[in-house]
Amino acid sequence: MTTIDLTQHPERRQRALKRVRERNIIIPTFAQMKDPALIPDRIKQDLGSIGLWDVNPLNLFRITWNNQPVPKGGAYGGVNYIELPPSLTGTPARIIVLVGKWFPTGAHKVGAAFGCLVPRLVTGQFDPTTQKAVWPSTGNYCRGGAYDSALLACESIAILPEGMSKERFDWLSKIAGETIKTPGSESNVKEIFDKCWELRNSGQDLMIFNQFDEFGNYLWHYEVTGHAMEEVLKQVMGPHDTYRGIVSATGSGGTIASGDYLKQLFPASKIVASEALQCPTLLQNGFGTHRIEGIGDKHVPWIHNTKNTDIVVAIDDNAVVDLARLFNEPAGRAYLVKKGVPEALVGDLDLFGFSSISNLLSAIKMAKYYELGEHDIVLSVLTDSMELYGSRLVEMHQEFGEYTPANAAADFARWLKGQTTDSMLELSYPDRKRVHNLKYFTWVEQQGKTYPEIQAQWYEQDYWTDVQNQVPEIDALIEEFNADAGLLS
Ligand SMILES: Cc1ncc(COP(=O)(O)O)c(C=O)c1O
Repeated sequence: MTTIDLTQHPERRQRALKRVRERNIIIPTFAQMKDPALIPDRIKQDLGSIGLWDVNPLNLFRITWNNQPVPKGGAYGGVNYIELPPSLTGTPARIIVLVGKWFPTGAHKVGAAFGCLVPRLVTGQFDPTTQKAVWPSTGNYCRGGAYDSALLACESIAILPEGMSKERFDWLSKIAGETIKTPGSESNVKEIFDKCWELRNSGQDLMIFNQFDEFGNYLWHYEVTGHAMEEVLKQVMGPHDTYRGIVSATGSGGTIASGDYLKQLFPASKIVASEALQCPTLLQNGFGTHRIEGIGDKHVPWIHNTKNTDIVVAIDDNAVVDLARLFNEPAGRAYLVKKGVPEALVGDLDLFGFSSISNLLSAIKMAKYYELGEHDIVLSVLTDSMELYGSRLVEMHQEFGEYTPANAAADFARWLKGQTTDSMLELSYPDRKRVHNLKYFTWVEQQGKTYPEIQAQWYEQDYWTDVQNQVPEIDALIEEFNADAGLLS
C-alpha cells in the first residue's frame, strides 16, 4: 500500500505555523476548493481587490474550477466550461471542456502542486523556513509550484525542459527562486529526473515534489477536478443524455484521475488517455520528440492508474500546431465563422492551449470510435490557454508566412472534419498490463521504487481507494493547522 504520508513532525510544524502567522496565510481545504460556498465571507470580500495572478496568499482560495472568469477581483460562480458544437467538432456528440485559464497562473496544475505541497506543510514534513521546494515539470506544474511556494513564502526551484515556450520562462524568472532548464524538449522527462537526483545528492536542504509519483497530484484531481466534472454533468445532462467518459492527455497522470472519480459514479463510462503520435509511449512503447507542450512522455507516470484506462489515443502534433493557427489567426477565425461555428465561440478559441487542442481531437476520436450521438456526453479539460503560446504563433508566422483562407480551409477539413479513428487502441486486460509494466523501467530500475510496490499497484485491491479516502484526514489536518495558526477569527 502507498498512500500520502501524513506523519506529523511537531517541531518543524511549529516553524511552519510561525511562518504562516507572520505572513497571514490561511490554507484552504479540499472541501472549500470543491465548493467555494464554504469559504468565509471575509476572504471573499478581500479577494474583490486582488488580481487572479497576484502573488497574494488569499489567491490560495482561487485554486478552484469555480472562479469567475475575470482577471481581477473575481468572486465565485459555477464551474468554467464550454460545450463545443458539431459545427466545430464534426460529431453530433456533446463534447464539453472545463476551462483551466481561470486558475491563478492560467492552468489547473497550480492545484496539483497544492495537493503535493500542503499535506507536507501542515504535517511539518516540509519546513518552509529552511527548505527549498523543488518542482520538476514539463511546464505548468513547476509554474504552479513556484506560485504556490511564493504564496506560502517559501523558496522554490522550478525544473523544466529548455525547449518550452518563452512565456513560461519569462514568468518564472519573476516568481521562482531559481529556474533550471533541462536538456531537450517536452518529452525529455528522464533528464528532469536526472536533475532531481543531482539536487538530492547536492547536500542542499530541499524537498522534491515530484508530480509524476506524488499521490497529492492524483488526489487533487480525483477530488477537485472529478467533483467539478460531476457538477457540470448535473447542470447539462438532460433525461435522455448519457455520460460516456473523459479524455485527458497524460503528462503526469494527474488530470486523468478525475476519470477514476467519475467512473465510480458512472461505472459504464470510459477513460481515454491521449499522447502525441510523435512519441507514442502508451500506444507502442514508443519514443520521440513532439510539440504538444505539457504532456511529456517516454515513460508512464507512477500515479497513472493504468488499470482503469480504457483507450489510448495518439494525436499528430502537426494537427495541434496547425489548429492553433486556425483558432487564433484572423483568416482562421473568419473561415470558422463562415463554416457556421458560432461567432462567440470563435472569439473564445484562445482558451485552448496546445494540449487542450490535443484533448479536443482525442474527444472527437473517441466520439467517432464509439459512434456517439447527440445524447452522449464526453468531458475533457483545457489545461491552459494561448496566453502561454503567443510566441509560438509568431514563430510559425515567421517560418510559414501569413495564414491564409486556403490554409484555414485545409486545416479545418483535414484536422477537424477529417479526424479519424486511427492511432487508437481499446485496451484489453493484457494491454493495460503492458502499459503498467512499462512503469518498471522508469520507476523500479531508475527511480528507487521497489518490486513489491509495483506489484501492489496492480494486484492490491484497495491501492487506489486508500489514496482516494485520505481527503477527510488531510482536510482535518489543514483545519487544525489554520486553527493553531490563529488566523481564522
Ligand atoms: C499544458 C499541459 N497540458 C497537459 C498536462 C498534463 O496534465 P497531467 O500532468 O495532469 O497529466 C500538463 C501538465 O503539466 C500541462 O502543463
